[in-house]
Amino acid sequence: MEREEQYNKFHEINKAAEAGGGVDRIQKQHESGKMTARERIDMLLDKGTFVEMDKLAIHKCTNFGMDKNHIPGDGVVSGYGKINGRLVFVYAYDFTVYGGTLSAVNSKKIVKVQELALKNGAPIIALNDSGGARIQEGVESLTGYASIFYQNTISSGVIPQISAIMGPCAGGACYSPALTDFIFMVKENSHMFVTGPDVVKTVTHEDVNKEELGGAYTHSSKSGVSHFLGNSEEEVLMAIRELLTFLPSNNMDDAPVSPSKDDVNRIEEALQTVVPVDPNMPYDMKDIIEPVLDDHYFFEIMPHFAKNAVVGFGRLGGRSVGIVANQPAYLAGVLDIDASDKMARFIRFCDCFNIPVVTFVDVPGFLCGTNQEHNGIIRHGAKIVFAYAEATVPKLTVITRKAYGGAYIVMSSKQIGSDVNFAYPTAEVAVMGAEGAVNILYRKADEETKQKAILEYKENFANPYRVAELGYIDEIIEPKDTRKKLIQGLEMARNKMNTLPPKKHGNIPL
Ligand code: HXC
Repeated sequence: MEREEQYNKFHEINKAAEAGGGVDRIQKQHESGKMTARERIDMLLDKGTFVEMDKLAIHKCTNFGMDKNHIPGDGVVSGYGKINGRLVFVYAYDFTVYGGTLSAVNSKKIVKVQELALKNGAPIIALNDSGGARIQEGVESLTGYASIFYQNTISSGVIPQISAIMGPCAGGACYSPALTDFIFMVKENSHMFVTGPDVVKTVTHEDVNKEELGGAYTHSSKSGVSHFLGNSEEEVLMAIRELLTFLPSNNMDDAPVSPSKDDVNRIEEALQTVVPVDPNMPYDMKDIIEPVLDDHYFFEIMPHFAKNAVVGFGRLGGRSVGIVANQPAYLAGVLDIDASDKMARFIRFCDCFNIPVVTFVDVPGFLCGTNQEHNGIIRHGAKIVFAYAEATVPKLTVITRKAYGGAYIVMSSKQIGSDVNFAYPTAEVAVMGAEGAVNILYRKADEETKQKAILEYKENFANPYRVAELGYIDEIIEPKDTRKKLIQGLEMARNKMNTLPPKKHGNIPL
């Protein structure tokens, strides 16, 4: 073969690979409001940095006449590139090729980049848009998933793993995203479910459409499966880029420092009046979190799920911190099952990746009642204790108002391993609120005696001074000084050395 022919052949094969399932299917993909796998990767990565691998891999299936139809690269586009100049690995299911279904060769391509990401200590991002197991390949497709799940699991806690759902993600295929650290979903065009609406109808006689069953809003607000809900694919891809700015590339690394012009000693007068005088009045904890952080910027995670808890990333003095907080503006900030799961998972993520945890506390207690008890609030609530106690990263706590009973203890109290604990003068650290306590202690007393006892209780117990006297609070601070105090505390704890006893792994109550 002449040299020119050799090059022509090479260009032809490359072109065929880049065309995926062909012009018609690409058009259909665009008409349904979706980008192609390659367009998504191009938008996600820094311009011109994508290096594709296994572009010419083909399936080996001969069933159902499949041997007559090979598309170079098959149904996955995979490789590596950069985000904000940092190495990442990426793979995207190509819905234009057999509906992005998983063939044996696709799973090999995916496992190859998973292994490389782990070996080279770089985050991996999966862009999902797939009909699931490729029916024609049967069990070979299923075992392909198993290999992907295995890599997901052994990479957990070593490199950040991020999944975006940009189309269908059905059946067991959902378990790869579920094993990763963060799931992003696109409004209207992404769906995750173990079984689709038709099977649900047959098995449970329930009438439900796919949006209600497993759409982006459902998983972002009800199930807690998804961490981010984007209005468009572009919004999701940009949010992934941003998330990575808060994270290290692997568990041996520190998150990138992002110097800010925001003064580390900034005094924020507005914080003096955020906590209302009336202890029963709600306020938005984000009105405290945001002004404390560099440039008032908070990157919230799971904003629509368990709104009585707030988690997310920010920076203090240019360094990433994980924020965990009660939200008095929603259900009075009570701890329930969903809030416990949301907080515990986030704390553990931060601990895996050397990100200090800053906790803001205003919590009236654990939610009571049969619903919570029967569904295991004891088991779920224990996750928060476990997550805080085993976390060896710097941990700082600010009690803004209520810190009652067991909820005080679990919310990063000194005795479960917090490094620096502050309280505002408005803090009430007690076994329970004054009214509740008096109703127990003075059950049979008249109203006048009760009112007197309530005032006495507030004076003697519902304040931060008892815990400060005992050394369980290191310092009572004015709200306006919160930023400065937290940054000083983080600097103090930066080189913290804290080792746990040798063990294979703990047994978190799941
Ligand atoms: C082979 C498939 C396929 C599959 C879709 N296609 N799913 N091919 N195996 N599982 C093909 C279609 O035949 C079609 O090919 C092309 O992909 C696009 O599909 P359409 O149906 O035309 O697209 P759309 O209308 O957008 O519907 C997409 C869909 C639907 C919702 C994903 O195709 C669907 O419901 N597919 C089946 C999903 C499913 O049940 N998968 C198995 C889940 S269980 P042509 O050539 O016509 O363009 C599973 C087990 C994993 O995955 C276990 C892990 C442990």
